[in-house]
Amino acid sequence: MKKILVTGGCGFIGSNFIRHMLSHGKVEKIINLDLLTYAGNLENLADVEADPRYEFVRGDVCNFDLAAELMGRVDAAVNFAAESHVDRSIIDSSRFVRTNVAGVQTLLDAAREAGLERFVQISTDEVYGSLGPEGRFTERTPLAPNSPYSASKASADMLVRAYHHTHGLPAVITRCSNNYGPYQFPEKIVPLFITNLLADKPVPIYGDGANVRDWIFVGDHCCAIDAVLRDGRPGEIYNIGGGNERSNIEITRLLLAELGKDESMIEHIADRPGHDLRYAVDCSKIQSELGWRPAHGFTEGLRLTINWYRDNAHWWRRIKTGEYMKYYEQQYGKRRQ
Ligand code: NAD
Ligand code: TYD
Repeated sequence: MKKILVTGGCGFIGSNFIRHMLSHGKVEKIINLDLLTYAGNLENLADVEADPRYEFVRGDVCNFDLAAELMGRVDAAVNFAAESHVDRSIIDSSRFVRTNVAGVQTLLDAAREAGLERFVQISTDEVYGSLGPEGRFTERTPLAPNSPYSASKASADMLVRAYHHTHGLPAVITRCSNNYGPYQFPEKIVPLFITNLLADKPVPIYGDGANVRDWIFVGDHCCAIDAVLRDGRPGEIYNIGGGNERSNIEITRLLLAELGKDESMIEHIADRPGHDLRYAVDCSKIQSELGWRPAHGFTEGLRLTINWYRDNAHWWRRIKTGEYMKYYEQQYGKRRQ
């Protein structure tokens, strides 16, 4: 795939993916279509702005004419564009349905019209719902989303499946676990806790902190998407994960230790409604079919991430003002116990 449309490329994973493809992939052109919502930031790609292979277009994935025009100029599309934060979907899910469901339907129609060679839908392991203490999600695990966010992502996955089945659209779905790394908006647990601790502020743990996620360094996720884009089989789903299960309290203790803080910084707050207990992914399919494996260990990846936030304080300090602080107060203000 030489010419690619990336949607949502100004967000966390999309910006890391564009940088990865420009430096490792053999691409002639990357068009980045992004609406620049609160989570999209042009600064995330300031270092590649001048690359002649890179083009930024501000726009909405719900705009069919724009999507079809851009897809007419590429071979493949990778859709990262989404409302991505579970807590925000609990406050108000309308934008999640608009972008994550109607936006995907629009992109799929545009991909059909353009006759794309490949459409990669970036989904999430959260579509499978929650696990108890044992077991892992495989690609055959039934969908059982629990949050408005994961329900919108599962709906999109169903549409992608249907467009492949009905129209023969060469679409592939990836379902990855929780990412961490540079350029993650400081609302998700890892960047929120790192930046709070760097600013000497407490870290708010939901409930008892026993909930478990599988953690993957964002660069490893980007390599997996690159492999799926090249060699994934149309109509298939590929799980992606770091093989790294940690409870929230374990992550918090690691961060406290790395940043030289003690447990007095922990603030236990009211639990997230409908909080999924545990996610864990079986990645044997992508490993055996495409030979992909994560390259970063958790401690190494976390240190890289902490150092990035330490070195780029201007980036997150600017974000953590104005609208962000209003969100923070709405999200956390009333939950303190
Ligand atoms: P993010 O919130 O950091 O970025 C989302 C990007 O999409 C932003 O740049 C935003 O401006 C853009 N966007 C939003 N609505 C748009 C619209 N209507 N039109 C065009 N652009 C729009 O998200 P992220 O963490 O980088 O996640 C990217 C994708 O990966 C999402 O689809 C998410 O569901 C999926 N995913 C994320 C994780 C994770 O841990 N962050 C894990 C698995 C899957
Ligand atoms: P998050 O980073 O929001 O990702 P997701 O909900 O998509 O898995 O949350 C990861 C875990 O951290 C989840 O169990 C909720 C918990 N969490 C907290 O305890 N405190 C926080 O402030 C946040 C944002 C999350």
